[in-house]
Amino acid sequence: MLRARITGTGSAVPDKILTNSDLEKMVNTNDEWITTRTGIKERRIAADGEYTSTFAVKAARRALEMANVQPDELDLILLGTVTPDFPFPATACIVQQELGAANAAAFDLSAACSGFIYGLNMAEAYIKSGMARKMLVMGAEVLTRIVDFTDRNTCILFGDGAGAVVVEASTGEHGILSSHIYTNSSHWGLLYQPGVGGRNPGSAKSTFEEKLYYLRMEGNDVFKHAVRAMGDAAVAALEYNNVSADDVNWLIPHQANRRIIEATGKRVGIPEERIFVNLHKYGNTSSASIPIALDEANREGRLKDGNLILMDAFGGGFTYGSVLLKW
Ligand code: UT7
Repeated sequence: MLRARITGTGSAVPDKILTNSDLEKMVNTNDEWITTRTGIKERRIAADGEYTSTFAVKAARRALEMANVQPDELDLILLGTVTPDFPFPATACIVQQELGAANAAAFDLSAACSGFIYGLNMAEAYIKSGMARKMLVMGAEVLTRIVDFTDRNTCILFGDGAGAVVVEASTGEHGILSSHIYTNSSHWGLLYQPGVGGRNPGSAKSTFEEKLYYLRMEGNDVFKHAVRAMGDAAVAALEYNNVSADDVNWLIPHQANRRIIEATGKRVGIPEERIFVNLHKYGNTSSASIPIALDEANREGRLKDGNLILMDAFGGGFTYGSVLLKW
């Protein structure tokens, strides 16, 4: 049976760091509140001249190098993002050009913080069906470009960066065992970016005075949905594969809030020491958070051959989902 196997990981974040104490000088907040409510200590901020594609290309090069795959061997490039370089063309097209991956079809995937899990789900489908053999799946964001740095409810949460994986067709037992994606759109208005788009075309008034360009989130409501949905998606993956939480070596969840991660761990039955957390360094990087975490865990040597790894995400839409794989 053909399986979709991750053969290389890579990530890239901006050099510029914004700490909680920097934020104390910008809005009415403090390190203690941010740390206890979210677990975040600092986040990375793209500099002028750095875009989603900047970090996606760097992350992709690292993943390709690890997999020992040349860009022209790729037949598909999927990039999850809600902060593309332009509304169109897809940022994946810019990545394709910069990598010189001339044989790959390239497109973006809009599933907010679940973008990478949605991407892996597509990778599994393409590879199992035989329609692709070597793919690049990425999550990349410059969320701080759409954050209102006068709104303490949101500006403390988000950061920039990218993660990438090379996914290849493989015949062994390693690779994605199952992937599960879901959408519950009844509450999409709790987390969205009103403009610029067809409903709110750009204008000096709407874009800046009315702040329609900035993301909006009802944090507390989103929190409750996130806890339930991430728990459900994780349990679905375990039940589908008939494995128990004790069998899982690593839970690598979307890094939005430490309390959401802890609640998910409890619901699923995976203790803290088997949950990979790096949000204290990067904040919530949306679609990039899981592939950045996966790459860090991988490069730190924590993922061993044959390990069972559960990835779990939730984001605007609401979209959510999970992937269980054998490393
Ligand atoms: O990426 C996927 C989607 N996103 C998420 O999963 C994020 C989900 N939500 C969250 O992580 C949390 O809801 C937040 C971290 C955003 C907020 O934490 P909370 O425990 O839900 O706080 P809250 O919104 O209920 O606010 C509690 C209090 C409020 O004051 P009052 O009304 O009790 O006086 C807020 O005004 O905390 C206040 N507050 C702050 N205080 C200091 C809100 N933001 C801040 C702040 N600093 N930055």
